[in-house]
Amino acid sequence: MQRVRFDGFGGNDVVRLESLEDPRPGDEQVLIAAPYAGVNPLDVLQRNGQYPVPHGASPELPGVEVGGTIVAIGGRVTRWRPGDRVMGLVTEGGLASRVLAHQDHLLAVPDDVSDLAAATLPEAVITAFDALWRGRTRTKDVVLVRGVNGGVGIASYRIAESMGAMTFGIVRSSNTKQILRTYGITACLEDECSDALVEFGGASVIVDLVGGEYIDDDLRLLAPGGRIVAVSIAAGAHAKVPLDLLMSKRADLMGTVLRPRSISEKAKLIMEVERSVGPLIRSGALTLPVEQVFPAGRVADAFDHLQLPGKVGKVVLEFSAG
Ligand SMILES: NC(=O)c1ccc[n+]([C@@H]2O[C@H](COP(=O)([O-])OP(=O)(O)OC[C@H]3O[C@@H](n4cnc5c(N)ncnc54)[C@H](OP(=O)(O)O)[C@@H]3O)[C@@H](O)[C@H]2O)c1
Repeated sequence: MQRVRFDGFGGNDVVRLESLEDPRPGDEQVLIAAPYAGVNPLDVLQRNGQYPVPHGASPELPGVEVGGTIVAIGGRVTRWRPGDRVMGLVTEGGLASRVLAHQDHLLAVPDDVSDLAAATLPEAVITAFDALWRGRTRTKDVVLVRGVNGGVGIASYRIAESMGAMTFGIVRSSNTKQILRTYGITACLEDECSDALVEFGGASVIVDLVGGEYIDDDLRLLAPGGRIVAVSIAAGAHAKVPLDLLMSKRADLMGTVLRPRSISEKAKLIMEVERSVGPLIRSGALTLPVEQVFPAGRVADAFDHLQLPGKVGKVVLEFSAG
């Protein structure tokens, strides 16, 4: 198998692709052959030494999601068999051609969903669902997704839309807005969103995928009684929160993070995703654009690309067969 490894923390000089024997799954694990791997911003943060990996995970093994076909199962695996196509979350080692995953952290991949599509979905869809759930999103809500052009943003937009919510997405360039339009996503710049939301009295749910000082803008765009779910610190981990607005709008400001959750918490969430979002995935209505596929040997380029503004959808690594 091939796997991306970090030799310590730093820039791309610590990144390498290693070849090694396939691992054997533990009792509750399955081994997945994964031709593609979704790359996520936190992989770059982990490389930089800016992401505290959860207990038990190796800081040297990036990759938090997987999509592919099961090739071996552990002794206590009851849910899956070799040959099943699956996608889901892993705590380490997702940037590899063979990936170990807990049996309860996986969803079935429908026949019509390609391996490439399966590699793009898990982290984005599960994060998006969790954020919308935390925001208590309902049919009549007005949902605003800040940073809608990334994988999590597009998944949030699509899921909110499928729930019947009036959905808006903020981007920060007209070019990004135009590319999104080709995927059927109507995005707006900050001022345009602000104008459009006046008609609705503000957004009742804001999924914030940017963070930093943008939390202040979120509060201004929020409807009374609205909920802001902070999912990212891309623009900074600290913000000045105008408490007068927070109070006068009787707003809920909350945060969420997936990776450090316990095995059972993740299993519960994934079961809920299967129940609520599974039909959307099976119908083909929930797919994510692929921004670019890089051969695994060019993982450093993939990391560089991931940090460029204006990407639409997911950056993916491709592993050669074998
Ligand atoms: N809490 C969790 O468990 C969890 C799970 C998954 C992801 N996340 C986080 O959620 C965010 C979205 O994930 P993703 O995969 O969709 O990432 P992505 O594809 O890189 O998208 C990032 C989005 O944030 C915007 N952005 C980044 N830096 C910005 C800045 N300084 N100012 C304004 N906008 C900025 C980008 O806009 P431009 O394109 O214009 O730069 C883009 O819309 C990431 O930060 C990721 O780390 C959190």
